[in-house]
Amino acid sequence: MILHLHVVAVLVLIININIERTFGLKPPQDVRVVKSYLQWKPSNDDNVLYSLQYNPKYKSEEEWLNVSSHIGTKLRITPEFYGAVFRVRTEKGNNVSEWQYSNPVQCVNVASCLPVTNLIVTPERVYLTMVHMDESLEKEYGEHIEFNISYWKVDNGGSPKVESIITNRKNVLLPELESEQNYCFQVEYLLYDKPYGNASKERCEIIPETPEAARRRVLLYSILTTFVVSAMCGICIFVLFKHHKKMKQLLQPVQLEIPDHYRE
Ligand SMILES: *[C@@H]1O[C@H](CO)[C@@H](O)[C@H](O)[C@H]1NC(C)=O
Ligand SMILES: *[C@@H]1O[C@H](CO)[C@@H](O)[C@H](O)[C@H]1NC(C)=O
Ligand SMILES: *[C@@H]1O[C@H](CO)[C@@H](O)[C@H](O)[C@H]1NC(C)=O
Ligand SMILES: *[C@@H]1O[C@H](CO)[C@@H](O)[C@H](O)[C@H]1NC(C)=O
Repeated sequence: MILHLHVVAVLVLIININIERTFGLKPPQDVRVVKSYLQWKPSNDDNVLYSLQYNPKYKSEEEWLNVSSHIGTKLRITPEFYGAVFRVRTEKGNNVSEWQYSNPVQCVNVASCLPVTNLIVTPERVYLTMVHMDESLEKEYGEHIEFNISYWKVDNGGSPKVESIITNRKNVLLPELESEQNYCFQVEYLLYDKPYGNASKERCEIIPETPEAARRRVLLYSILTTFVVSAMCGICIFVLFKHHKKMKQLLQPVQLEIPDHYRE
């Protein structure tokens, strides 16, 4: 029993020494992404550096990339860090602290998010659905974050007339559009009624004809074709009839002339 305790005590001592050696420094506290900054509380030790790494969103757990060594306790977050998680540790000579991890960078931290849009075009109507890249904007700003939907007919020549709809609904049915015309659609965020972040990619689609309009068009064409063909036949018959005699006369001299020719 005593031997047992002894072994445990020695083990604890060894582990303690190891931790001391590896993590001789106090880690930074309260590592967080706030607004557009990664920030932390300074360590109590003097003259320390902080090293920063980040893990881009879809990479493996172990993929940590260096940002920099840092004296300050703040880092401005630029759009390429969207979705990343940061970790920060204190360094002094060969001694380092444990890593401290941040929350992931979200839309509320970078002004480069755009609404993810999906367009559903049917002959009757056009539906537009919008999804946030993450929920942070809605959580932070609620009703003050809105979508500005723009759409316009592509006309060759002349600047297009842009219509817009401002809404915070995620499914929108657009007003009726002209069929067989090419329309483009784009969505941008509004934050407190001002453009925010990036606009979605422009999507263009030709509005299909309704089946009813297509049937009507086919019917109209066949009526027109029938009418034109019968009118032409009528004219042909009339012309032929009217000139029947004249043509006979025209043909006769030729027939008569040949014998005349031979006679001479
Ligand atoms: C590293 O930490 C150990 C234990 O805290 C300390 O004795 C040593 O002086 C430190 N080394 C440096 C370079 O700060
Ligand atoms: C990050 O920096 C450390 C120290 O400068 C270096 O040892 C390590 O290889 C670097 N990691 C990457 C992924 O570049
Ligand atoms: C919404 O978008 C349209 C078209 O791009 C633009 O003219 C309009 O000013 C925007 N609305 C606001 C409130 O920014
Ligand atoms: C957002 O727009 C800026 C400039 O307007 C551009 O540099 C950046 O790449 C865009 N970001 C995305 C995610 O499209």
